[in-house]
Amino acid sequence: ATNRTFTMIKPDAVKNGHIGSILAMITNAGFKITSLKLTQLTVSDAEKFYAIHSERPFFGELVAFMSSGPIVAAILEKENAVADFRTLIGATNPADAAEGTIRKLYATSMGENAVHGSDSDENAAIEGAFHFAGREQF
Ligand code: CMP
Repeated sequence: ATNRTFTMIKPDAVKNGHIGSILAMITNAGFKITSLKLTQLTVSDAEKFYAIHSERPFFGELVAFMSSGPIVAAILEKENAVADFRTLIGATNPADAAEGTIRKLYATSMGENAVHGSDSDENAAIEGAFHFAGREQF
């Protein structure tokens, strides 16, 4: 079925000038952008967004990195959006990411891995609503 996922182009990829290339890969893969903005997470926003990881040893590093600079947030629509988007971005660790994936091309490390992709339909809806007001959703 047609459904939606949520993505962020993370601070590393924005800083390195990859917004346009990554959005082109996303739309060329058949995703329709239904919400889009350049924004920056506060520390508190990042702690809330990544609350599920709060007990992990890398939580502090993750929150600091994700609030360190502007990000691009977007909601994407496609047949089988969540799973197909995770295929397009590749493995969390760029060293393990398949050729041609966004992380293989643009990620620098496990932490600074260029893009986020929701892991379920339920989380896609929660994450999209976290970032976009009703009038920003199309
Ligand atoms: P993502 O899957 O988008 O969301 C959770 C993030 O935590 C993940 O991307 C990585 O960027 C980060 N992460 C996961 N494991 C580690 C780790 N071992 N060290 C640093 N960051 C990590």
